[in-house]
Amino acid sequence: MRIFITGGSGFVGSAFVEAIHARHSLTAMSRSNGSDAQLSRLGATPIRCTLDTIQAAHLEGVDVVVHAAADVREWGTWQEFWRVNVEGTQRMLAAAKEAGVRRFVHIGTEAALLKGQALVGADETYPLALNSPYPYSRTKAHAEVAVRSANDPANHFETIVVRPRFVWGPGDQRLIPALKRMADARQFVWIDGGRHKTSTTYVGNLVYAIETALTRGRGGEAYFVLDDGGPVTLREFLPQLTATAGFELKGREIPGWLARSIAFTTEKAWRVLHLSGQPPVPRFNVNVVSRDCILSDAKARQEMGYSPPFSREAGLEALRAAART
Ligand SMILES: NC(=O)c1ccc[n+]([C@@H]2O[C@H](COP(=O)([O-])OP(=O)(O)OC[C@H]3O[C@@H](n4cnc5c(N)ncnc54)[C@H](OP(=O)(O)O)[C@@H]3O)[C@@H](O)[C@H]2O)c1
Repeated sequence: MRIFITGGSGFVGSAFVEAIHARHSLTAMSRSNGSDAQLSRLGATPIRCTLDTIQAAHLEGVDVVVHAAADVREWGTWQEFWRVNVEGTQRMLAAAKEAGVRRFVHIGTEAALLKGQALVGADETYPLALNSPYPYSRTKAHAEVAVRSANDPANHFETIVVRPRFVWGPGDQRLIPALKRMADARQFVWIDGGRHKTSTTYVGNLVYAIETALTRGRGGEAYFVLDDGGPVTLREFLPQLTATAGFELKGREIPGWLARSIAFTTEKAWRVLHLSGQPPVPRFNVNVVSRDCILSDAKARQEMGYSPPFSREAGLEALRAAART
């Protein structure tokens, strides 16, 4: 199969390229010399283009597009998030359709449902947060609408959304490094004692889900893809993650309502006063760790035959092995 991937230089995309390059022919969006080199090393042929410049000609002969690129920063303007996540996705869809691509696999996120609430037992019938106060959530929600409504089986163009939650594993450049910085600066705090529960998606399980979605799953549908073993509390899971990198998480406890008020106030001040850099604790991040997020992936299991190949323990062992090299 000929696959074109966006975001192939990122955490999720590079894990996908590395895992499947031997079975498929891969081309990948690249916007720098560094990404060219990384993609070539992993097994994909880099194509110089961006989400602003993508055209059908870049996708000639491609069977499936995997769209993993997104603006996933903790902080930015509404316009920046909209340009990359919504308009970039719309451009990818138009180029793919014009090029005669048969299937479009979009990497969605549970964040597209979030506007500050807990999710308990949510499945794919739960509404997208199209008016979320968080730019990442709102723009990923609108991107998902664009993808699902572009499904056009009559013209041999199927679209599907794979939704992970809390992706972790080797290659992560964000979560463990951020916890390390907080631990080193003695700034780490347990919100509500870390008692909130979260579903998780090990990166190897996400790669398996994306590969499954190349051929399975109904067009126009979204699918949560999660780890086995149900949700975990942050108090259980974060120390397991940081132990693989050789450090402990110690910190005071603060109540969720206080953490959310501090985040709300500082974020407001940042925007109103046009301060440079980003606030110490963006609201989105605080909400993610101060509410339960418990999801169901029953639909992916039933309709796509999704069955995560890696246990959490196997993922932790892979992280320990990666830390040793
Ligand atoms: N990580 C998670 O916990 C998580 C959870 C749920 C869903 N997701 C979804 O998974 C996908 C991948 O996330 P990730 O964690 O792998 O992110 P990441 O490591 O930050 O990678 C982001 C990728 O997007 C590319 N990109 C960003 N802006 C672009 C633009 N304007 N034009 C072209 N490429 C652009 C980056 O390319 P450069 O290398 O050139 O910057 C990079 O390859 C995203 O769609 C995200 O919403 C992630």
